[in-house]
Amino acid sequence: MNAQIRPMKLEDYDAVIALWQRAGLSFEPHARDSRSAISQQIESSGHLMLVAEADGQIVGTVFGSHDGRKGWINRLAVDPRYRRQGLAHQLIQRVEDALAREGLIIVAALVEAPNEPSLELFRKLDYEERRDIIYFRKLLQDRS
Ligand SMILES: CC(C)(COP(=O)(O)OP(=O)(O)OC[C@H]1O[C@@H](n2cnc3c(N)ncnc32)[C@H](O)[C@@H]1OP(=O)(O)O)[C@@H](O)C(=O)NCCC(=O)NCCS
Repeated sequence: MNAQIRPMKLEDYDAVIALWQRAGLSFEPHARDSRSAISQQIESSGHLMLVAEADGQIVGTVFGSHDGRKGWINRLAVDPRYRRQGLAHQLIQRVEDALAREGLIIVAALVEAPNEPSLELFRKLDYEERRDIIYFRKLLQDRS
């Protein structure tokens, strides 16, 4: 497969949402994945938000991010028709390279179990599997 990987543009938004739906990726269309939220993210770290195009369509995404201490792999998705051809591997590699260029030395991903394809992918790419960490989170809405 000959996919072209490039930074996401805001004009890609609808196609990206359609891909996530085809891929069965869960996302937050009214919060951090809304058009306005993505627009802000593109302004601050658009070079880490990548799409893959093949046959005139967006067939893959990965949104890298970092807080200056650690890099993250977010919103990794590949169109079902383009899977098992190394595209997720390529997308992750591109984000890893971009993070390394910014001086980051660690990159992490949260995988919602059970997601065997994704778990197998990160294992194959030599990510260390930590089962001793429990993820805490809090929504900071209604705090203006
Ligand atoms: C997970 C996902 C992104 C993988 O995309 P992909 O392009 O098919 O992955 P790759 O072709 O780069 O796979 C690389 C390796 O990962 C592992 N892998 C990928 N999919 C797998 C599957 N379904 N079963 C077992 N191993 C799998 C394999 O080791 C594979 O290497 P191989 O094909 O040489 O055996 C894709 O299945 C997807 O979009 N899933 C739905 C959305 C999702 O779960 N995203 C991740 C959220 S954390």
